[in-house]
Order: sequence, then structure tokens, then C-alpha cells
Amino acid sequence: MKAKYLYVLAIILLNGGIVLMDEHSHTYEDSEEVVLWMNTVGPYHNRQETYSYFSLPFCAGPKESISHYHETLGEALQGTELEFSGLDIDFKNDLTHTKYCSVKLTEEKYKEFVYAVKNHYWYQMYVDDLPIWGIVGEIGDNGKEFFVWTHKKFDIGYNEKQIVDVNLTSDSKVKLEIGADISFSYEIKWRMSKVKFEDRFDKYLDPNFFQHRIHWFSIFNSFMMVIFLVGLVSMILMRTLRKDYARYSKEDDMDDMEKDLGDEYGWKQVHGDVFRPASNPMLFSALIGTGYHISVVSLCVITFAMMGELYTERGSLLSTAIFVYAATSPVNGYFGGSLYARMGGKVWIKQMLMSAFLLPSLVCGTAFFINFIAIYYHASRAIPFGTMVAVTCICIFVILPLNLVGTVLGRNMSGQPDYPCRINAVPRPIPEKKWFMEPSVIIVLGGILPFGSIFIEMYFIFTSFWAYKIYYVYGFMLLVFLILAVVTVCVTIVCTYFLLNAEDYRWQWTSFLSAASTAGYVYLYSFYYFFFKTKMYGLFQTMFYFGYMALFSLALGIMCGTLGYQGTSTFVRKIYSTVKID
Ligand SMILES: *[C@@H]1O[C@H](CO)[C@@H](O)[C@H](O)[C@H]1NC(C)=O
Repeated sequence: MKAKYLYVLAIILLNGGIVLMDEHSHTYEDSEEVVLWMNTVGPYHNRQETYSYFSLPFCAGPKESISHYHETLGEALQGTELEFSGLDIDFKNDLTHTKYCSVKLTEEKYKEFVYAVKNHYWYQMYVDDLPIWGIVGEIGDNGKEFFVWTHKKFDIGYNEKQIVDVNLTSDSKVKLEIGADISFSYEIKWRMSKVKFEDRFDKYLDPNFFQHRIHWFSIFNSFMMVIFLVGLVSMILMRTLRKDYARYSKEDDMDDMEKDLGDEYGWKQVHGDVFRPASNPMLFSALIGTGYHISVVSLCVITFAMMGELYTERGSLLSTAIFVYAATSPVNGYFGGSLYARMGGKVWIKQMLMSAFLLPSLVCGTAFFINFIAIYYHASRAIPFGTMVAVTCICIFVILPLNLVGTVLGRNMSGQPDYPCRINAVPRPIPEKKWFMEPSVIIVLGGILPFGSIFIEMYFIFTSFWAYKIYYVYGFMLLVFLILAVVTVCVTIVCTYFLLNAEDYRWQWTSFLSAASTAGYVYLYSFYYFFFKTKMYGLFQTMFYFGYMALFSLALGIMCGTLGYQGTSTFVRKIYSTVKID
């Protein structure tokens, strides 16, 4: 039974490589058939609100259809819906103006076209994996008349046996009227081109946008901030700690009684409580495990994207991410499980389940909810049932067992609480302190600097996702990722130092949350972006935007929180292990 599912899964994951060999080899003989795939149509301003091309009353060409395209997992999740256009295109054979079908406008069809034209619908097609965009129609000058473009002129560039360039020109505007007969036509021109096959996607990239001065400047700026912060943190801490060490070692000579009654203050006071397990250890360790997992996946995916040009294949980035996420599940189990064991947790099976399904359930929950709206709208974003089954199978038969392996390893290899200080039996009361030393205030302030170091990059990432830019500068992204990690760790260490000095030992959650609050600012920024940088409208697109932005921010928050916690944890161990306590 299990083997069968795994087999199905393997097929689903691999089928991108085995169907349609012709298109995947990307070489054609003279007069060989070239397939024009119709993908989706939708309003220009709502990039994610897409419908299948033939949901509008367009008509297909006379050629018998090749069955529905077999999608990869990533494509299915991203709403790709390729259907054969029925247009006859043969490699290197020019075709003059040819009529291929006509539509009689009933009132219903008329209304659909008018709606599409009013909402600036445009459609997308693929030839040999190269995307082509065309606009459906145009609104007349007086705003009362509506036109559709009926003629498609394809200029296809070839280099030897390969297709390297496609241009589409829309022509022959026809007015929409009930009862009118609208005929569609196309035309093909083949041209020799000097573009190399490897470079054929370059025209879709926008170096002026992504390598704008602002982008370089922001990276440079953040980098300076990192140097400054690291310098500041190490300077302050070295000085303070040295002073503290000096004082404490002098007091080493006094007997214990005197020491306890002495007027000591600061972080050393809480040595008997600082390694007390965090409240709610199960959730905490699940979050830390998930955070490690997300960090590893982000790093791997960014590296893959840097090495291979993943943007040239539809949905491959998403497929890669899912695959890497499933394959690196032991990381989650290892770190979550070992932390839980160190905190003395007993119900480790429950913890493991929570760790394994924390992120998948959040993602699936959001996707499920948005899917409802997508189905209501008949959008191509609606996730097919088969895909849902595949994703569930991955969760249960890949992620869960691997997580189990990780958890068992983690509990056995680093599950021993080897803290440098003993934990007192009775918790120490937390003294009153100034308002700005309260954990909640520290948490809110903690995210500001890390957010400052990434928000320009966020603009570029958002724009590539919500508008029509292909993100390709993964080198920048890696740099920003590393900068974010360093800034987060530095800031969290400073926050924790202040907290411990105020004799508040609840540092685990505080450090996690103060680092995670970066994501809160990112979510707030996404509101600004929505209202001032995009023209999205409609229930579907709005829900889609805020739903997935919340998910993105949450994942980012868990990741930053984990980085912050881990940095702080190392720091806390360090300062308490060098101080002799008896
Ligand atoms: C497509 O358009 C671009 C820009 O106008 C032009 O440089 C290129 O040669 C055209 N390609 C073909 C195949 O006509």
C-alpha cells in the first residue's frame, strides 16, 4: 500500500522530465510541428487571478487537440493550465494571414468579452516554453464601445534547430456587438536570429530594475550596518563582561554567605534560573525545529536558484522547494527533538508530530481556504484534487518518517541537558523593572533593525511575485539572507543581555519573539505595498495577497526567531560557563 503511494508520488514528482520529449529536447527538424499552448487569461492588475484561456469564449484552431498537458507538481500548484491552441505551426514554414475559427456573439458571450476588456484581461501562451503575452481587447475612446484584437502575428526567431525568440503582435481590432460574427486569424513569420539558445530568456529579465543603483546601495548600506552592529556588540559586551568577570572573580575569595548577601546585581544573579526550561516547551521546540528547517530550505533553494536558472522552467522553483523541504525533514526533528529532550519534555511523540506538521498544516490551511474562493471563481488557481492528494502523501509518507528519524537521533545524540549552571528548585521572583525592560517592549523593538536591513530586498521580492518581473538576482538574495541572520543574532543578543541584567530570566521566548517581530514589520510593509504599489482589486486577489503574505511573514518570523534564539543560546551558555559558580 505504502509502496504504491510512493510510486505514485515519484511519478508525480518526475513526470516533468518524461512527457513531451520533443518540447523538452527543444530541437526541431524543418517543418516539424511546434505546439502553441494556451495558458491562462486574467486581469492585468491581479497577477494571481487567472482563468483557463478557453473560459473566455475564444475558439480553438481546427487542428485536433493534443490531450491536456501533463503538469508537474509545481505547475499545478501555481495554476498553470496549458491547453492546445489548435493552431498549426511548423518549424521554419511561414504562414500568411490565415483565419482559424470564428465566434458568433450571443448576448452571453458578448457580456463575457466586454467584462474581460473592461478589466484589462490579457492572456498568456507558450511556444517551446517561451512565454508570450497578448491583450484581449481595448476600450473605445468614449468608454462605451469595446473592441477585441482578432489577429495574432507571431514573429519567431530560430537559431539552427532551436527556437530562441518569439514576438506577438495583436492586430485587427473588431468592435463587439451582439450578433456579430468575430473571426480570428493568425500569421507566422520565421526569422533567423543570432540569439543563443542559453540566452533566450534574457529578454524577459529586467536588469535596469533589479540592478538599479538603489539595490546595490541598499546591500552596501545593510553591509555597513552589519559591520557597525557586530563591532558595537562585541565592544560593549567585551567591556561589560570583562568588568563583570573581574568583579566576580575578586568576590571568589569571599565565602558563600557573604556573596549571597552582597549587593550583586545583574545577569549573574539569575544563574540558578537562566537554564530553566521555557514555558510551553513543546510549542517552543516545535517552533525551533521548524525554524531550522526553514532556514536550511531557504539556503538550499537560494543556492540552487543561483546555480541553475530555475526561472526558465515553469513551476520548477516551487517543485524544488517542496522537494528540498521534504528531504531535509530530519533537520526539523533533530533540532526540535533534542531541544525538547534537553528541556526535560516527556511526550516526545506529540512534540514530533507538532514539529513535523506545524508548517505544513499552516500552509495547507491557508491554501485550502484560498482554494475555496478560487473554486467559487472558477479560477485556474484552484488546486486539483490529485495535487492535494500528492501533497498529503508527501507529508505523511516522506516528511513524517524523516522527522521521526531526526527526532530519535536528536534525542539520543544531544538530548542531555549539560547546562553550565544548576537550576534552582524554587524559581526566583522577577523584580520590578523600568517599562522599557519589559519583555513585550523588547520584543517589539527587536525587529526594527533586522527589518531595516531587508525591506528594500522585500520590495524586489514582492514585485517579482505580485507583478510581472522575473526574479533572478539570487546572489543579492543570499547576501541579504546572511546579513539578516547576522543582524538578527546581534540585536537579539543585545536585547537578551539587557533582559538578563534586569534579572529577568525568561530569555528563551523573549529572544525568539524579539527576532521574530521582524516578520511583523514585514507584514505591515506588505499592507503599504498593497495599497500604494499595486492596483489589485477583487475578493479573490485580496484574499490571496493577504493570505499568502501572512504565511510568508510567519515563515520568515519562525526562521528569524530561531536564528535569534540560537545565537542568544550560544551567548548565554558562554557567559554563564566562564563564571565560576559554586
Ligand atoms: C522581437 O522584437 C525585438 C524588439 O523589438 C526585436 O529585437 C527582435 O528581433 C524581434 N524578434 C523577432 C523574431 O522578430
